Amino acid sequence: MSDPYRGVLIGCGFFARNHMHGWADANGAAIVAVCDRERAKAEAFAADFGIARFYTDAAEMLAAETPDFADVATTVETHRPLVELCLGHGAATVCQKPFAETHADGKAMVDAAEAAGKPLIIHENFRWQRPFMALKERLEAGDIGAPTFARLAFRHGYDVYANQPYLAKTERFAIMDVGLHLFDVDRFLLGDVVDIHCRTQSIKPGIAGEDAFIATVRHESGVVASIECSFASKIAPDPFPQTLVWLEGTEGTLEVTGDYRLRLHRNGTVQERDVEPDVPAWGAAPWHAVQASVAAFEAHVVDVLAGRAAPQPSGAHNLTTLAMALAAYRSAETGSAVNINEFVAGGAL
Ligand SMILES: NC(=O)c1ccc[n+]([C@@H]2O[C@H](COP(=O)([O-])OP(=O)(O)OC[C@H]3O[C@@H](n4cnc5c(N)ncnc54)[C@H](O)[C@@H]3O)[C@@H](O)[C@H]2O)c1
Repeated sequence: MSDPYRGVLIGCGFFARNHMHGWADANGAAIVAVCDRERAKAEAFAADFGIARFYTDAAEMLAAETPDFADVATTVETHRPLVELCLGHGAATVCQKPFAETHADGKAMVDAAEAAGKPLIIHENFRWQRPFMALKERLEAGDIGAPTFARLAFRHGYDVYANQPYLAKTERFAIMDVGLHLFDVDRFLLGDVVDIHCRTQSIKPGIAGEDAFIATVRHESGVVASIECSFASKIAPDPFPQTLVWLEGTEGTLEVTGDYRLRLHRNGTVQERDVEPDVPAWGAAPWHAVQASVAAFEAHVVDVLAGRAAPQPSGAHNLTTLAMALAAYRSAETGSAVNINEFVAGGAL
């Protein structure tokens, strides 16, 4: 077997632990060094994962390690400078979502990747969750004929603020955090969107941004979708982190239930199968849907590095998903539907 691709990871925080386990599972990639601007974090993280070298400065690490790829696992405000730095060092670059806070920053990163001639891959792991992969396969197999309507619902009351305290302080929260994932899944399953209408809610006291939203989107194909998210729903058992799906077509309906059942309603009958992701050896329920999707995404990154696959999704693709999220805020402010192409062309981002 050829040598593994040599990678570095930037940002040794909460979610990067999943990245590291995923990289350890991925055949053909090895993280050789990690970096965090907080020395104690970088040192402890390197020790936990048996990584020989750690740094507090990303530029220093990239110069010393000359990696094949870099995995940017910091929060959004640092993405543009770090992604540009990594690409400038000739590394294929993986960037966590939200890719950027503004369209201009996202576009600059896409341009930097093009100039460097290196792939920019956005860590949109939701589309790599087993239920969504199964839905895509069944849609393409024609199980429901031509799709006409979809509902994606990510509603729960799990205390996300315990692991990610910054979420309580961010003024653009639910749409930029999970909305982006849902918009990416929507485009993955149903293609591009013409316009979006969105309403937001702030339910939990003390949260700076919106913690719930509902968006309706119209696709180029004519499919209409309702995309819902709430971090303030009292449900027992709590479905976190599952997305419930209802997908209607001219010949039938596909459904993903809260217990990971994929149901096909067709010809007056229901067929059901289990699409629950495996719990990785390093993982635990209820996080396994997320953890297994990180591992699947990172295995895909190795395929991209080897030239066997195109990025899913690329920075360029995710720029339109970001535009949907920004347009959703504009819609919530104005009360009107926002046409995505006109919104981008208007430069009002
Ligand atoms: N895809 C998913 O399912 C998922 C889930 C959770 C979080 N996330 C995303 O992952 C990203 C990280 O989230 P988190 O909760 O792990 O954040 P975190 O705050 O726990 O970790 C970020 C780390 O990056 C470090 N850092 C920041 N700037 C740096 C720099 N310039 N150089 C080196 N280190 C730097 C910080 O010190 C911190 O340790 C966010 O964008 C978040 O939205 C994605």
